[in-house]
Amino acid sequence: MAEKQIQIPKLGLGTNKVGGHNLFDNLKDENGYEVVRQALDDGIELLDTAYMYGKGRSEEIIGDVLQDYDRSKVIIATKAAQDPQNNMELNNSPEFLKQSVDDALKRLKTDYIDIFYIHFPDEKTPKYEAVAALNELKKSGKIKAIGVSNFSLDQIKEANRDGLVDVVEDNYSLVHRDAEKNLWPYLKAENIAFVPYFPLASGLLTGKYSMDAHDKFKNFSDEQFKNIIDALAEVKAIGEKHDATVAQTILAWYIANPMISTVIPGARLAKQVVANAGSLKVQLSDDEYKKIDSLFGEF
Ligand SMILES: NC(=O)c1ccc[n+]([C@@H]2O[C@H](COP(=O)([O-])OP(=O)(O)OC[C@H]3O[C@@H](n4cnc5c(N)ncnc54)[C@H](OP(=O)(O)O)[C@@H]3O)[C@@H](O)[C@H]2O)c1
Repeated sequence: MAEKQIQIPKLGLGTNKVGGHNLFDNLKDENGYEVVRQALDDGIELLDTAYMYGKGRSEEIIGDVLQDYDRSKVIIATKAAQDPQNNMELNNSPEFLKQSVDDALKRLKTDYIDIFYIHFPDEKTPKYEAVAALNELKKSGKIKAIGVSNFSLDQIKEANRDGLVDVVEDNYSLVHRDAEKNLWPYLKAENIAFVPYFPLASGLLTGKYSMDAHDKFKNFSDEQFKNIIDALAEVKAIGEKHDATVAQTILAWYIANPMISTVIPGARLAKQVVANAGSLKVQLSDDEYKKIDSLFGEF
């Protein structure tokens, strides 16, 4: 089992704001193209996309940009589960997943997908059957690794009945740490890679918000939100010792965390990609790593 862990770069790009017009207002395709180009130009060679980001538009933009780059150097991760033929209801059936991979390959203009995730669990398909279908695609070379996303621990166990799950993607950040207790012990024992989504807590952990932005982040109580803003002030001080911004320091913490296979901060603008790429240069000391860990200990 030891050889199962897939090899992926520590920093990637989240692309739900690349073409994700159905999810976010006021997105411009031209910014999406710039974001992907900037990432590849800066050596960020893992792109995390999904059918659901613009109902295929994100994949199309990535596919267009990739025509000018060396495909073999880029790790493309995409996902499907929402069925466009059935009001976007979740579908994990083998037929649907196989069709979804073929459709994604066309939009991405490539002949293989490095990581294909079941984006969300449906209620009816046995999870090991869904994964067995993906394993057929893996054997045929259409996908290289099998992922599941937004699965509970029990669903991950069911999906991994035959030891075929390579990667799990789930909500995780320094202010949303449930996965550490709920998922990580099993993933570690099974050598399954972990990819957190919302690593910057949708921008909150960049340090660009103050107390008056609490309305944007209503899932935190007044007290929690104040604690986060206070903790970010301390992160800022740590970052300054490295000439790093808050976002770079937070991303450097994930990069240093051995349980996190890759970090995929999203970006609306190319300049955010440039800034986030700077996190690769930030080497936190053990004490700084532990300090940041404890600052956000309660989440
Ligand atoms: N599997 C799933 O179900 C699932 C769910 C959600 C996301 N994802 C994936 O995970 C990726 C990451 O999540 P996310 O993008 O939603 O959230 P995130 O990474 O926590 O936050 C990204 C957002 O923060 C802001 N930002 C990023 N870098 C910044 C910087 N240097 N300075 C200032 N602001 C900055 C940008 O938004 P603004 O400029 O608009 O503030 C950006 O869109 C997604 O792109 C997607 O690929 C997967």
